[in-house]
Amino acid sequence: MTLAPRKLFVTTALPYANGAFHIGHIMEYIQADVWVRFQRMRGHTVHFVCADDAHGAPIMIAADKVGKTPQEFVAGIAAGRRTYLDGFAIAFDHWHSTDSPENVELSQSIYRALRAEGLIDVREIEQFYDPVKGMFLPDRYIKGECPVCAAKDQYGDSCESCGAVYSATELRNPFSALSGAAPELRRSEHYFFRLSDPRCVAFLQDWTRQSDRRGEARLQPEVLAKAQEWLGGPEGGKLADWDISRDAPYFGIEIPDAPGKYFYVWLDAPVGYLASLKAYCNKSGLDFEALVADPEVEQFHFIGKDIIYFHVLFWPAMLHFAGRKTPERVNVHGFINVSGEKMSKSRGTGISPLRYLELGLDPDWLRYYLAAKLNSKVEDVDFNPDDFIARINSDLVGKLVNIASRCSNFLTRRFDGKLGATDTAALATFAGSWSGPDALAELYERRDSGKVVREVMQYADAVNQYVDARKPWEIAKDPAREGELQMVCSTAMTAFRDLVLLLSPIIPGLTERALAQFGAAERGWAAIGSPLPPGHQVAPYQHLTTRVEAKSIDALFDMPASAKAAPGTAPKAAATTPAPRPTVSIDDFAALDLRVALVSAAEAVAESRKLIRLTLDVGALGTRTVFSGIRSAYEPEQLVGRHVILVANLAPRKMKFGVSEGMVLSAGSDDPAQGNGIYLLEPGAGAKPGMKVS
Ligand code: MSP
Ligand code: ZN
Repeated sequence: MTLAPRKLFVTTALPYANGAFHIGHIMEYIQADVWVRFQRMRGHTVHFVCADDAHGAPIMIAADKVGKTPQEFVAGIAAGRRTYLDGFAIAFDHWHSTDSPENVELSQSIYRALRAEGLIDVREIEQFYDPVKGMFLPDRYIKGECPVCAAKDQYGDSCESCGAVYSATELRNPFSALSGAAPELRRSEHYFFRLSDPRCVAFLQDWTRQSDRRGEARLQPEVLAKAQEWLGGPEGGKLADWDISRDAPYFGIEIPDAPGKYFYVWLDAPVGYLASLKAYCNKSGLDFEALVADPEVEQFHFIGKDIIYFHVLFWPAMLHFAGRKTPERVNVHGFINVSGEKMSKSRGTGISPLRYLELGLDPDWLRYYLAAKLNSKVEDVDFNPDDFIARINSDLVGKLVNIASRCSNFLTRRFDGKLGATDTAALATFAGSWSGPDALAELYERRDSGKVVREVMQYADAVNQYVDARKPWEIAKDPAREGELQMVCSTAMTAFRDLVLLLSPIIPGLTERALAQFGAAERGWAAIGSPLPPGHQVAPYQHLTTRVEAKSIDALFDMPASAKAAPGTAPKAAATTPAPRPTVSIDDFAALDLRVALVSAAEAVAESRKLIRLTLDVGALGTRTVFSGIRSAYEPEQLVGRHVILVANLAPRKMKFGVSEGMVLSAGSDDPAQGNGIYLLEPGAGAKPGMKVS
């Protein structure tokens, strides 16, 4: 079967450039990457891009707190992206930034087109202003008492205590979270996108209910239901106009012909999809405008359930009324929880993707596990450590790898690595155990990777049953049964290649190693179900993956959440307003043996991006080695000769790189708005190594 080649433009949501990736981001990238790899395997052309979402008040404020310009701050975050993307084999063609010339140009031109359509209004609104900082305050930065239940220290949009939703101006005794000052109400002109315009409503009523060109509904049923609710049902009339401007100072894109006004970050963020594609086109010699106007190009966005409103209302309306093509589909996924617990926005979940990579865990394990859990619904996914171990060990190792590890060596040792004839009856039995390549392709197409995995494992079960029944290790003992041995192993390895091809969008690393055994043989989707001819050379078996050990998963979770970002440093203060800890007695405090120590040597740990190995002179206590997670903030050479504070009686901790004999104290915050800095504590001048700290 030959397929008409498709041209696909695929994106994932642009992550805010105020912190490192968490496991939720990685899950989204894996889901999209599996889909993209599948499409490429089918011979389709895919342009797969993403970018940092750089603008907005929170990033501006976070940068200010650490004494950086927003540009420097965002560049620091961007520099860390590659490690994760390469580590988890995410095949983006390009990574860009919304703070780019392409985005300025595109955002302004889309805005001008909307204005020419009569869809932009200017209205004066009243808003809180921080007289100390000299800026209008976003709701998140206004705090006060809840107007409903009087709980103190609540944000300007909703109460964490009683759940009430209100506007910032209703808070009692409001204060600015930036300066502490009482905010003033000031009037200012704001620009609005007239989403309530009957043309917009009619367009969105229609667009949200359409099917894509393959006949699949453009929006998942639960997403369409949400959109209908927002639109006010078939009668419409519930959409409010959208405030798209912010006053200077703001880190964003200037609104044309409106001095001192900037686009609200959510206006230029989705335009960043196009900006990234444009930058990609420029670097690879493609014509961007021709590509995005090409009716054959299908545009797909993968996003999480929290940003549906922006993607199914604002974004298609912006594109349509600016005379551009709209997305083919918006694919929405749920959130990832860890052992049933919700992830915190600032701390992420219990799983740090970077630590996962640093521990040397196989990225294909996570890809496989998440793919097995994901489907086309907007359901949350739970990462459960025991389930993870069981899945990998029973499926990937026990079913898939097991086939090759039991059969491949006989071909190498006894038949010069040559495939023989296959057992056609057995191949027919295998074919009956799963629904076949076309049905699997449709499951991939619909992002039902959970079902793909189940089907492929049924196929693997059938092959293992065959190997169990024919026992090549027994046949091998009888020289008279040579032909049978070659046939059984060739049949199993033929099926193994099919299984590997079927899973290659999900576990590209393992399957690449496995396919290398078959040399230059065809690797596209069409190769599935077509056995290689007798005589085809199969290379010796290579290690594919190991079993997951419970202890490495423990290592992924073993630190207190607060220390997760920086092993070896003291737990950092919690969010913006750290909750006070319960009182301790002076004896509790005295239980800690705190000492002044001199850093006599410091070197980066080669296998780790976070750790520095410190050699400490602790006077009478001798020399100590401490691994400290401060690499992001200090160069080893800056540390030599410096005095630090050591917790000298902390139980030694065995790490991958050696034993850490204590911990050095540092300050820092988990609140991204305060930046991710780490600040080592230092005694006053004159303190000597070994001195007690009390
Ligand atoms: N910057 C915006 C998106 C702009 S798109 C033009 C944003 N950034 S984000 O960093 O907060 O989120 C990026 C993506 O990660 C979103 O699709 C979001 O839904 C997804 N996730 C954030 N937390 C998540 C989980 N816990 N689980 C799965 N995905 C989650 O929103
Ligand atoms: Zn309340």
